[in-house]
Amino acid sequence: MQSKPLYRTAKGQAYVGDSLALLAELPSNSIDLVMTSPPFALRRQKSYGNVEETEYVEWIKPFGQEVFRVLKESGSFVLDLGGTYRSGIPSRSLYNFRVLLAFCDEIGFHLAEDFYWFNPAKLPSPIEWVNKRKIRAKDSVNTVWWFSKTEFPKADVRKVLAPYSDRMKKLIRDPESFYTPKKRPSGHDISASFGKDNGGAIPSNLLSIPNTDSNSSYLRLCKELGTESHPARFPAELPAFFIKMLTDEEDVVLDIFGGSNTTGFTAEALKRKWMTFEISREYLASSAFRFLEGQSSDTIKRVLATLSDPHADYCIGEALCALDTNKNATISDESHAQLALFAAGAGYGSARIQRNCE
Ligand SMILES: C[S@@+](CC[C@H](N)C(=O)[O-])C[C@H]1O[C@@H](n2cnc3c(N)ncnc32)[C@H](O)[C@@H]1O
Repeated sequence: MQSKPLYRTAKGQAYVGDSLALLAELPSNSIDLVMTSPPFALRRQKSYGNVEETEYVEWIKPFGQEVFRVLKESGSFVLDLGGTYRSGIPSRSLYNFRVLLAFCDEIGFHLAEDFYWFNPAKLPSPIEWVNKRKIRAKDSVNTVWWFSKTEFPKADVRKVLAPYSDRMKKLIRDPESFYTPKKRPSGHDISASFGKDNGGAIPSNLLSIPNTDSNSSYLRLCKELGTESHPARFPAELPAFFIKMLTDEEDVVLDIFGGSNTTGFTAEALKRKWMTFEISREYLASSAFRFLEGQSSDTIKRVLATLSDPHADYCIGEALCALDTNKNATISDESHAQLALFAAGAGYGSARIQRNCE
């Protein structure tokens, strides 16, 4: 990169700027995973037609083209897009589906899989249709498109196995008393091997993750120092799922709409290299709080002052990167298909990371 970062850690760099310009500085075929959540808000609200949807697609397409170029052949692009209604009417915008179609039909991405992020903690909205008139259900699912550059991106679901449900644990303990092996009407052969312990269940593409962060060091420090916290953060469990499944340690993860740098922080905790691009210096400066856990408030104030220069190239020393292992992503299901991100496997939990910025 020609540009200097705002700050860097042992594993990553956070850059202030328009990500289209910053992407242009990256060599082709150099990134393993782009994980991001762009601004969803339709850029110009209209009360009729789908003009705003078309505008959104035209706005985001150049970013998609650049992401396609910088991704390795084995790479993936995970795009979290919240749904929305068209302005003034109880009719859904199709913009997230139009983005999906444009990226596949016009840029050449493959849709490796469509994921759905269910946020059980989401407040009911829009108020007019859901709370007042009660003619629409609460919208609590984001579409998360997993794009790939080729048909076979690097992926391994064994790295995100979910804990078995109690029912499945019982089956593994005592398969004979549980059922008689037979063919299901669907044709699936439910043989005795179904009761084999594989260390966890295959996750589903419905990720249940409450977005309820209220006590992280990031929020605490934003409050203490009177800086505005980012209003549209995703929970670390969301990037953690895809980073684990789609990359190995030391692979490079990029977030092109970095916000409060949830992705970079998660990548660092999972021992991946990372880069974050964010247009707002203020948002990116306070994202450094994520890496300053345990530092004195004087030190943090000094760091914040240094970060008033968008190209400060500030090296963060020692940091504590801890992912909250109590916040699981779960699918409540009578069957064994329970999804939790923090299943057995390397990479989760608290990791003290010694910084070494040369
Ligand atoms: C939905 S937020 C991302 C939040 C992030 N996932 C987090 O957890 O904090 C989208 C971000 O994209 C940034 N943004 C918008 N246009 C941009 C651009 N052209 N280049 C870089 N960042 C941009 C916005 O400032 C905003 O912070």
